Amino acid sequence: MTATAVHSGLEQVNLSDHALWRDDPPFEIFARLRAERPVHWSPISQFPHEAGFWSIVRHADIREISLDFETYSSERGGVVLVDDIGVPLDMVRMQPIAQDPPRHDRMKQLFQQAFTPKRIAAHAEAIRQIVDRAIDGVAARGECCLVNDIGAHVTSRVIGSLLGTPEDDDPQLVDWSNMIVGFEDPDMRPEFEMLMPELQRAFEYVLPKVLERRENPTGDLVSALAHAEIDGERLTDDEMVLTFGLLMAAGNDSTRAVYGSSMLALMRHPEQRQMLIDNPDLIDDAVEECLRFSPAFAYMRRTATRDVELHGQTIHEGDKLALWYVSGNRDETIYDEPERFDITRGRVQHQSFGAGGRHFCLGAALARLELKTMLLRTIERLPDMRPAGPAVRAHSLFLNQHKSIPVSFTPPPGA
Ligand code: HEM
Repeated sequence: MTATAVHSGLEQVNLSDHALWRDDPPFEIFARLRAERPVHWSPISQFPHEAGFWSIVRHADIREISLDFETYSSERGGVVLVDDIGVPLDMVRMQPIAQDPPRHDRMKQLFQQAFTPKRIAAHAEAIRQIVDRAIDGVAARGECCLVNDIGAHVTSRVIGSLLGTPEDDDPQLVDWSNMIVGFEDPDMRPEFEMLMPELQRAFEYVLPKVLERRENPTGDLVSALAHAEIDGERLTDDEMVLTFGLLMAAGNDSTRAVYGSSMLALMRHPEQRQMLIDNPDLIDDAVEECLRFSPAFAYMRRTATRDVELHGQTIHEGDKLALWYVSGNRDETIYDEPERFDITRGRVQHQSFGAGGRHFCLGAALARLELKTMLLRTIERLPDMRPAGPAVRAHSLFLNQHKSIPVSFTPPPGA
């Protein structure tokens, strides 16, 4: 193929074509884009009335843009490529993830007062019990769905126990979380016009809890957030409710996604799984490699605040950019043989929790602790787990996750 043919081939690639994403992210296309066309334009096929977007695919560019909030805003258009997901932007902007300074400075400090490493570490034993209970629930059956029977139970109970919601409400909170993040997948969200009424129900569920914790703090995360103060100022009720929604969605969805894809990677690389069973001390490195290999979010969006030139391409003010973590995490200038899954890589500078700067994931310590516990307990207790049918990916550019992963295993003695 001539250089021109390669070049024009890439020009015609439409990264929003869901057919490219059916089994996996289109890693080969991303590799070619990194080499030949690091700033690339696509329309949004599923929502043709929406403006298209620039793809940013190199590790260094993703990092640079993440650090430069003045040129590349999180607040102007939020963090997903679709402008109209059925929720007004003003509501979305009450969450730190969709804010720039100065709003973001205040919010982040308030969050950090509540989301302390001590609070997370204190949860370690509770997390272990939650994981063991989820595995107990399926152990005798010899088969289950990793996403719905283990992942969802664990992540919803962990975030529910931090937020102080009762266990009976976990399935409802999972449904609401799916609705918020799964806006591209008809299985995960209701009809467009049903979304706001559903979110209104969620709002009505959360608000009394917030008001109650303001009056009578219980020591949970919501109480801590409700009482956190910067310069004598607290979060408003609306901010509290929207923040609760962000924590619920982030807590439920992303960790569940990485658990599922990590188990798939370990089942597809049984020698790596065995190495981890034999050397559980490798778990910290294994979690980082799992996060690199399969980030929960394929991208986060930024919006240009001015005209800017990048690799010879003019990006205009108001243009959308997708920072493709699925591509940055496999950049061959950073990783040796990036397509190889290798839990002994050691310290991996992946971009799965964000690529640096002020929006770095607030839940990273919690997610790491949950993933360590979930992965270790699963491979220790169900060591011969194997796929029992095709894993089904979410229909989404944003969510790099599976809706179901059927598996089978030998029931452990005494199950
Ligand atoms: C494996 C699991 C997780 C992954 C891969 C993940 C990933 C991310 C990413 C990519 C961002 C945004 C980065 C950006 O825009 O630059 C983010 C932000 C955030 N995450 Fe997570 N997350 C995970 C788990 C969690 C959990 C468990 C929580 C809380 C319970 C959480 C809370 C947040 C919050 C509050 C933000 C906004 C931070 C800010 O904008 O200042 N995340 N996360």
